[in-house]
Amino acid sequence: MISVLKGTHDVILDEARKYSYIEELLVKVAELYNYKEFRTPIIESNELFVRGVGEGADIVRKEMYTFLDKGNRLISLRPEFTAGIIRSIVNNKLYAINDFPIKAFYVGPNFRYERPQQGRYRQFNQFGIECVGVDNFYRDVEVISLGYNALKLLGFNNIKLKINSLGDAESTKNYRIALNEFFKDKIDSMCDDCKDRFNKNILRILDCKVPSDIEIIKNAPKISDYLSENAKKEFEDVLKSLSDLNIDYEIDNNLVRGLDYYTGVVFEYQYTSSLNKNYGALGGGGHYSNLVKEIGGPDLEGVGLAFGIERLASVMNDDNLFDDLNQKLDIYIMPFEQKYYEKALKISNYLRLNGYSVDVCYENKGFSQMFKKAERRNALFALIFGENEIENKTFVLKNLKTTEQIVIKDNELLEKLDELFELNEDEHEHNN
Ligand code: HAM
Repeated sequence: MISVLKGTHDVILDEARKYSYIEELLVKVAELYNYKEFRTPIIESNELFVRGVGEGADIVRKEMYTFLDKGNRLISLRPEFTAGIIRSIVNNKLYAINDFPIKAFYVGPNFRYERPQQGRYRQFNQFGIECVGVDNFYRDVEVISLGYNALKLLGFNNIKLKINSLGDAESTKNYRIALNEFFKDKIDSMCDDCKDRFNKNILRILDCKVPSDIEIIKNAPKISDYLSENAKKEFEDVLKSLSDLNIDYEIDNNLVRGLDYYTGVVFEYQYTSSLNKNYGALGGGGHYSNLVKEIGGPDLEGVGLAFGIERLASVMNDDNLFDDLNQKLDIYIMPFEQKYYEKALKISNYLRLNGYSVDVCYENKGFSQMFKKAERRNALFALIFGENEIENKTFVLKNLKTTEQIVIKDNELLEKLDELFELNEDEHEHNN
């Protein structure tokens, strides 16, 4: 037997329906904010992520699936969407019409060679948005509110929105110097990852989860003391607007996020399910001032966020936030004998063309087994015929919920179904 690869998982049957439900709702919310869909390739040049996400980011240094293709090009599977979306905006010169912002949403798989654990997969799905060409803090607030409102519409209460500001270039430069000063005589006693981060991206030390390191980090200088006047004012403006929109937040000075392109506001949506399981952040994002330029485009700033679909689905399962998503079947056709299969094939084709979901029992089963199959398929009606019905040009239609059964002339089938389903509109709508 060949098994699914470590860190990957099949999303099948009811689980797949849950993913679609989440994605459809998120897409609807993105459209309420006037975002347009982008579908960019899963494979990109390795250089895009090295330059875009940053050489110092763990996902680029350690977690990318990278290979040489047959043309000797260094290719990576995307570990995240943002760099590819910006590349597509630059390649397609969407900035040329000078009408900003450019608003993109996206859904699909990403790949990170992480250590598999609860809430962490090597192939996982994200929904996200990028808003590019922004020159004031209102877009930051709009993006944060989109994520917050989307979670509310999915049924979440008690979302913890953690927020921080990394400030502008001047702020982070001064802050890095202060961190360097603070950690330089402590780093030898810290974990190997922190040692690595000390040289490559010192801010990431703040994200360390090793208990003894956390104790040291508690006393490290705080970014809030190093923000320039401009950065401080902008952060205050964002916080005030969030309060005006009744969005609860919690400032977390250690929130630095794992990707190097952020400047200014960064945020994460956290939530602990009622089972007290920690799947990691449901989503996160932030503002980026240099990414578009870095990828060869003009000097435009952007802001965006992404949610992990796997994490949303796990938490929603734990907290019973899914409505009844069982796929229903309008009609299950039960021909009495094999000689009637051809008629069943024709009727099913005719009904499907008229908008009904239909399945047929071609498996030569007895009556009670056919009813069991109908039940397992969540069928609303059974359409039954045998010798008598063929002779009389009729069908038997049985309502599987009420068990009520009627005889219909075969030339009146569609008319009768339309009438019955109008009474049952909710169920039918659910399927179409
Ligand atoms: P990120 O924080 O790396 O940000 O990922 C966003 C979300 O994707 C996480 O909060 C989590 O829900 C999910 N996620 C990440 N890694 C995994 C994994 N291994 N398994 C399952 N879920 C995972 C970004 O990717 C940025 N591009 C977000 C952004 C957009 N910033 C600006 N624009």
